Amino acid sequence: MQKLKGPDGPVTILAIESSCDETSCAICRDGMILSNIIAGQAIHEQYGGVVPELASRAHMQNIVPVVDAALKQAACELSSLTAIAFTQSPGLIGSLLVGGQFAKSLALALDIPLLAVHHMQAHVLANLIPASDRPEFPFLCLTVSGGHTQIVLCQSPLQMEVIGETLDDAAGEAFDKSAKLLGLPYPGGPLIDKYAREGNPTRFSFPEPQIPGLNFSFSGLKTAILYFLQEQTTRDADFVQKNLADICASIQGRIVSILLNKLKKAARETGVRDLCIAGGVSANSGLRNAFRLLGEQQGWRTFIPPFEYCTDNAAMIAITGYYKYLAGQAAPLSVSASARAEW
Ligand code: KG4
Ligand code: ZN
Repeated sequence: MQKLKGPDGPVTILAIESSCDETSCAICRDGMILSNIIAGQAIHEQYGGVVPELASRAHMQNIVPVVDAALKQAACELSSLTAIAFTQSPGLIGSLLVGGQFAKSLALALDIPLLAVHHMQAHVLANLIPASDRPEFPFLCLTVSGGHTQIVLCQSPLQMEVIGETLDDAAGEAFDKSAKLLGLPYPGGPLIDKYAREGNPTRFSFPEPQIPGLNFSFSGLKTAILYFLQEQTTRDADFVQKNLADICASIQGRIVSILLNKLKKAARETGVRDLCIAGGVSANSGLRNAFRLLGEQQGWRTFIPPFEYCTDNAAMIAITGYYKYLAGQAAPLSVSASARAEW
């Protein structure tokens, strides 16, 4: 492990996130986010999902301008950086390698420490970005993204335990695959959210899987939606078009109830009263509203990161890097990116 040699003055971290199809760079000083630049990749829309090879290429094109913009917006010189943080895992390996190699080169050139960050841990710690109104430890976090669905028990910034997770599809995948069945473009989650606002969530009923413990399953829901749509469109070819808002509201309502019923169980079993949500799906308005309402009913304190810190962003990598820096957890320059999700 590299020895930390930060100055006695402010701790300024430059962080890079490139695990999937967003290239992002953030600057954080003493735990405050000064900039958070995110470049999306529209190229994947036409393929109905993220194409790994194209994602890596787009990261290569975006990374220098994104880092430049983050430094400019933060009015920060490279010479004032204390450490470089980057997403080491999990994610698409080609995408992770672009951000990882860039971060290593920068750390080597500036002769400052490198901080390797776990993407899912960072989603959880996005809840610690706001300067006030933050959860207190221990807290529970429902992390819902395109690749993961987890309930995490957090004892401190770097001490976390996954106490429940999906056995098959992630919540974001459930949204995106349902949207695909409805003929909506990728990523479909935000579109289901949009149409659901005008719809009746009790109009159509989809099954809630009976999974023991705190784990989740979404593959049965996907199959139920497929059969439901096949049956309805055989009777009326325009069924989806005529009922889009109600279908979206009913699908979203079921995904949200699956998530929140397990979170309620986790809160009951652990006795924890500070609850958070994080990850791309926490941008969903139905989940945000239902989570707040459930919190009021259950007497929880509820926390949701600001919108820009819900979907993939480097600010969450920066804040996690900051805690790692304070804990003296620098990574060697030989550290390599990993597609796998182990903590
Ligand atoms: O955390 P994230 O940005 O990337 C991963 O780490 O996977 O999450 C992306 C996922 C996608 O599945 C996307 O459809 C979903 O988050 N998502 C939403 C909404 N915004 C993003 N799902 C439902 N409603 C939304 N408003
Ligand atoms: Zn993510």
